[in-house]
Amino acid sequence: MAKDIVLTGLRTNAEYHLGNYLGAILPIVERANTLAGEYQINMFAPDLHSFTTPVDHAKLYAQTMHNLGLFVAAGLPITHNDVFIYRQSCIPAHSELSQILQNFAYYGELSRMIQFKDKSVNKSDNISAGLFTYPVLMAADILLHRAKWVPVGDDQTQHLEFARDLAQRINNKFGEIFVIPEPVAKQHDFVGKTQGTRIRSLRNPENKMSKSVEDPAGTIQLSDSPLEAAKKVMSATTDSVGIINFDWQTQPGITNLLQILALLTNRPQDEVNTQWHGKSSYGDLKKAVAEAVSDALDKLQTNLAKVDNQALIDKLESSEKAMNDIANLQLLKVQQAVGLRPV
Ligand code: ADP
Ligand code: TRP
Repeated sequence: MAKDIVLTGLRTNAEYHLGNYLGAILPIVERANTLAGEYQINMFAPDLHSFTTPVDHAKLYAQTMHNLGLFVAAGLPITHNDVFIYRQSCIPAHSELSQILQNFAYYGELSRMIQFKDKSVNKSDNISAGLFTYPVLMAADILLHRAKWVPVGDDQTQHLEFARDLAQRINNKFGEIFVIPEPVAKQHDFVGKTQGTRIRSLRNPENKMSKSVEDPAGTIQLSDSPLEAAKKVMSATTDSVGIINFDWQTQPGITNLLQILALLTNRPQDEVNTQWHGKSSYGDLKKAVAEAVSDALDKLQTNLAKVDNQALIDKLESSEKAMNDIANLQLLKVQQAVGLRPV
């Protein structure tokens, strides 16, 4: 029996931050370490997605390679035969399938995508068509590899729903071509969560921590020195309530810190909340979070320095070869269904 596929990608437009780490990298790396053998794990760099918003193209390639190294530093077991690591642009079938799928995706549904609205808001000119069709390429990334499990942060939930809708639409029209990824609630169960993770900016806790938004004081980059990161935590925006309570509505800053602490120390959120509930020293909470953050960065950066780049390149090349074979077979099924190839 074919193994179920767990798949995720993270754009390489910039350095990863704590939100990327806790929302997407850690969940799949943890699953890879416990489930490889039973499941197939695909972790890839959607490099074609990386310039749907403006980037410095002279730096993109190096950034992509660096970010792939971070997957390994975070613990992705690349020596395992069931683990694949690849660059989207090295598998041309992704672009081809995306081009086909565009004709089955509707302008209306793409216009309603929150990320498109967020990233294009207040930018009346030069919003790329690539940003608009972004979810279609993402659907191709998922459907081409028959992925059932797609661990992503909360902001990507709508794109995952879209991929499911599109797959269903094609299957209804042409027969069972695609594996439909599991619904969002089940995806959360799979990574041991009750809802999608959304780490907020330390400076503006109403907003998510993001690499596309200029917010250096609110964003912990995985390349920040542990000391620098600890300082950012110590000066995080909180509130004037004066009592610690986990509540996104009234105390988003404090709640964000409690969330970061639980995820980094691998403890249940309820347990962390109970430990801190009703205490009045925001400083003590910040200290605990600062310590957890600096420990995590220290470990990650030490691991990154030890990543064997040649082993990474070898793994990329062998994975890309294997993934091209799989993707081309799946693409052929679609090409046959839509009348581009003989049946
Ligand atoms: P960004 O919005 O920072 O540019 P991406 O859109 O490239 O990041 O997201 C890469 C992955 O990281 C996605 O799975 C996304 O859901 C997750 N992610 C991004 N920001 C956060 C966050 N603040 N909290 C949790 N997960 C996040
Ligand atoms: N959209 C994701 C992000 O913003 C990246 C991505 C591209 C992705 N293709 C994917 C994630 C397929 C999961 C599955 O980072």
